[in-house]
Amino acid sequence: MRSVVAMLWALALLVGLKQSSSTAIISIDLSSKNLSVVPGDLPSSAEYVDLSLNHIRLLRSGDFENTTRLRFLNLSWNGLEKIDQLVFSGTPLLEDMDLSHNSLQNLSHQPYLFNMRNLQGLNLAFNMFFNMRLGEEFRTLATLQRLAIGGNNIQLDDFKSITGVKLQTLTLCLEIGTTYVAGSLDHVRAKRLQIVLSKGKILGTLYGLLGDALLLFHELELTGLTGGYNNIVKQLIKGEIHTSHFHLTDILIQWHDLTDFVNAVLQANIPQLTITDMALLKLPFNDTYVSNTSAVKSITLRRATVKSFFFSQTAVYNFFINMPVVSMAVLETPIIHMTCPMSQSPLRQLDFSNCAMADTIFSRVEGEHILECETFGQLNQLFLRGNNLKDFQVLSTRVQYMTSLEYLDLSLNYLIHDSQAECAWPPSLIHVNLSSNRLTHSVFSCLPRGTKVLDLQNNQVSVVPQGPFLRLDSLAILDLSSNRLRDLPVCGGFPTLTTLLLNDNSLHAPSVTNLNSCPKLEFLDVSHNPYTCTCELRSFRSLGTKSQQKNGQTRIHLLSWPVGYRCSYPDALRNSTLKDFWIPEVSCNVGLLAVTILGPAFIIIIAVTTICHRLDVPWYMSMIWQWAMVKYRAKSNNDRLQDMLGVEFHAFVSYSQQDAEWVNDTLLPNLQGPAGGGLHICHHGESFLPGKTILENIMHCVEKSWRCVFVLSSHFVKSDWCNYELYFASQQHLSWGSDRVVLLLLEPVPQYLIPSKFHQLKLLMSKHTYLEWPQEKAKHRLFWANLRAALQEDLRNAPPARQLDVDDVTTSTPSCQRSTATAY
Ligand SMILES: *[C@@H]1O[C@H](CO)[C@@H](O)[C@H](O)[C@H]1NC(C)=O
Ligand SMILES: *[C@@H]1O[C@H](CO)[C@@H](O)[C@H](O)[C@H]1NC(C)=O
Ligand SMILES: *[C@@H]1O[C@H](CO)[C@@H](O)[C@H](O)[C@H]1NC(C)=O
Ligand SMILES: *[C@@H]1O[C@H](CO)[C@@H](O)[C@H](O)[C@H]1NC(C)=O
Ligand SMILES: *[C@@H]1O[C@H](CO)[C@@H](O)[C@H](O)[C@H]1NC(C)=O
Ligand SMILES: *[C@@H]1O[C@H](CO)[C@@H](O)[C@H](O)[C@H]1NC(C)=O
Ligand SMILES: *[C@@H]1O[C@H](CO)[C@@H](O)[C@H](O)[C@H]1NC(C)=O
Ligand SMILES: *[C@@H]1O[C@H](CO)[C@@H](O)[C@H](O)[C@H]1NC(C)=O
Repeated sequence: MRSVVAMLWALALLVGLKQSSSTAIISIDLSSKNLSVVPGDLPSSAEYVDLSLNHIRLLRSGDFENTTRLRFLNLSWNGLEKIDQLVFSGTPLLEDMDLSHNSLQNLSHQPYLFNMRNLQGLNLAFNMFFNMRLGEEFRTLATLQRLAIGGNNIQLDDFKSITGVKLQTLTLCLEIGTTYVAGSLDHVRAKRLQIVLSKGKILGTLYGLLGDALLLFHELELTGLTGGYNNIVKQLIKGEIHTSHFHLTDILIQWHDLTDFVNAVLQANIPQLTITDMALLKLPFNDTYVSNTSAVKSITLRRATVKSFFFSQTAVYNFFINMPVVSMAVLETPIIHMTCPMSQSPLRQLDFSNCAMADTIFSRVEGEHILECETFGQLNQLFLRGNNLKDFQVLSTRVQYMTSLEYLDLSLNYLIHDSQAECAWPPSLIHVNLSSNRLTHSVFSCLPRGTKVLDLQNNQVSVVPQGPFLRLDSLAILDLSSNRLRDLPVCGGFPTLTTLLLNDNSLHAPSVTNLNSCPKLEFLDVSHNPYTCTCELRSFRSLGTKSQQKNGQTRIHLLSWPVGYRCSYPDALRNSTLKDFWIPEVSCNVGLLAVTILGPAFIIIIAVTTICHRLDVPWYMSMIWQWAMVKYRAKSNNDRLQDMLGVEFHAFVSYSQQDAEWVNDTLLPNLQGPAGGGLHICHHGESFLPGKTILENIMHCVEKSWRCVFVLSSHFVKSDWCNYELYFASQQHLSWGSDRVVLLLLEPVPQYLIPSKFHQLKLLMSKHTYLEWPQEKAKHRLFWANLRAALQEDLRNAPPARQLDVDDVTTSTPSCQRSTATAY
């Protein structure tokens, strides 16, 4: 079974590998290989080929004839001078081509572009083009989305041939001396214009370009600026502006240039400003003016660094926090503090993700008092994820006056809550993200009352506490994944919960009954927990299988079922899904188990008993037992030799006269005759010596016999003589060992029938097991064998077989019955 599964697995893996190899992008990196021609052995499956940083000056037709799947080609930094017209005729799928930093000369003459029906990205920047006139071939690039070009002067009609091409981004890579004739970009249909300035400064010569850019493009990005900001400011103040998103990327800027620029943007009513990778110089010592009115909606600063050591941090913070914008973000910037706006701030969204903010944020110390910020009355969303925040309770006081705050993201900090002080959240809070902190169960005593969505994933919560302090009456979504919970929580404190996420915790056998306290629960995720697949898990498993059924008897929908739910114990079931794990009801229910096991057992016992009874197994068993005992005694009896002295008979048989017929006809022939193994038997019939008294004969017989066989029957117990014989024999044999008395039960003799004077017999019967004469003929053989085995012994003094006069004997030697008769 297991090997079959393993084989299937291997097969699946192989198939999977094959498929993935056929779908994976084949990428060939041949950059910096000192190549002077395109290698002839490019694999035909190649899709991404990087040939950058080589010396390929010429692309010949046929260079890519066999790479028909080619989609990306990088030929930058090669010194390319000439490209054959037909070189890409065999690569209809080519999507992206980088030909930047080469020595191509005439932008109007790039005939190889005629065959590129699928081209989306083309980089022709940093070649040796003198002007930017695009040739007719560009007209055919209907799918082009990104075009990067560079040239020394831009003139009217240069872009005429791409009028019909709807670009996403046009990138102009400009050298310092580039000239621009106003209106040259009129023909371009692009959402975004990116101007890359290789030497950094916007000079007056590009003044017109900036004006056209702000007029014509929805988004404008200036990259690599190091100066000339005054030209931009001038244009922003003066010109007509249609741009709605202004980007500055990778810039070096002085503080006063930045403030001028920002104020100009605020005045120009460009809705969005984004500054990325900014290095700041000459930072301020005093507060800087910032306009108090603007239509700008959003300002984003990403990865700002400072190049000064001495400056007023407060002045810098104040400049940003007092901007009259709706949304402000300072991201991935190592600032440790933010001040409070001077007056009521219009900010509705504030994002300081991935900075280095400390717990002092927004607050101010005056003397011995900490003054909390009260001017964020409009603030609706505050993102402080990925900072250096530590004290949860202190944070609540920091935001307590943000009376419109609904969304608070404190994820990815170092928050703990161990303070006894009251938490002071604004009542407006409904969405709180506390994921990836160090919070334990104590956090539940410090949560905003109105929370609807609470994200506590990846913390250290081991239990959801219960109690009157925990009242989250609006909580609908609770994410406790990646914590340390050991069981399902009780929803006492949040009766309206609809979604509960508990994946990646330590639940091993969830108590499904706890969910009864969650009347509104609809979605439950308990995947990726270390389930112990034993009886305890059955109720949970049935929750899963029920939630899977479409007609859904249960309202709870178990997310990620079944693949996310796997056994981690016992080892034999490890990693098998809970869905596949099945334990029969009976092995878990003790009552049922008892019934199922004991029922059949009971029946079997009865059956065995009945069969034994029918087949008389006990009788056979006792026969075999006795036979075995005899054999054992015979072996273990060491001083037997001593005892054997003077013994002439194997046995003396004592019986009642009424049983004489059976003794003579059945017993004796089976012991004495050739069939009986020739045992010597002393019995009333033939062995009593004539002339001796009966008593003497009996005593003689008992003395000379190895064993005494008493044929017990109801007649026997009625005979006094027999009692006497028994008494004598047992007395005699006591000295030898009681095992010399063999009791042969001819018919059942109940103990109560035995008269009290036969106490010898009672004693013997209780100590001795006896041989029962079976009625069934089939058992006789075993009976005789057993009896013979009990009597069999090697006699040295056996008398020669003598023939007695039967009549004489019978008259002179009465059986014990007759004696009894005389006694009465
Ligand atoms: C690069 O190739 C040229 C000839 O094609 C050769 O002269 C030069 O030594 C090679 N350079 C390196 C670093 O291998
Ligand atoms: C393309 O494949 C053909 C046939 O295999 C071969 O003759 C030719 O040289 C190959 N061309 C290139 C450029 O590798
Ligand atoms: C092409 O290669 C150059 C140099 O390796 C690299 O800088 C450039 O980003 C690559 N172009 C594309 C589109 O990946
Ligand atoms: C550039 O190509 C165009 C079109 O083929 C041609 O008219 C023009 O003379 C070429 N310019 C130069 C400088 O070679
Ligand atoms: C800062 O402002 C104060 C007065 O408000 C002034 O005395 C001081 O010179 C200013 N410092 C700088 C560096 O501008
Ligand atoms: C902006 O500031 C000016 C003075 O600096 C003040 O008169 C005006 O009321 C302020 N406007 C707002 C909306 O705060
Ligand atoms: C909480 O923040 C984490 C990390 O910042 C994010 O992955 C998660 O989606 C946020 N949760 C909610 C409910 O917004
Ligand atoms: C468990 O099984 C799943 C799918 O069968 C597999 O992706 C995963 O790697 C397995 N995990 C372990 C620890 O074997």
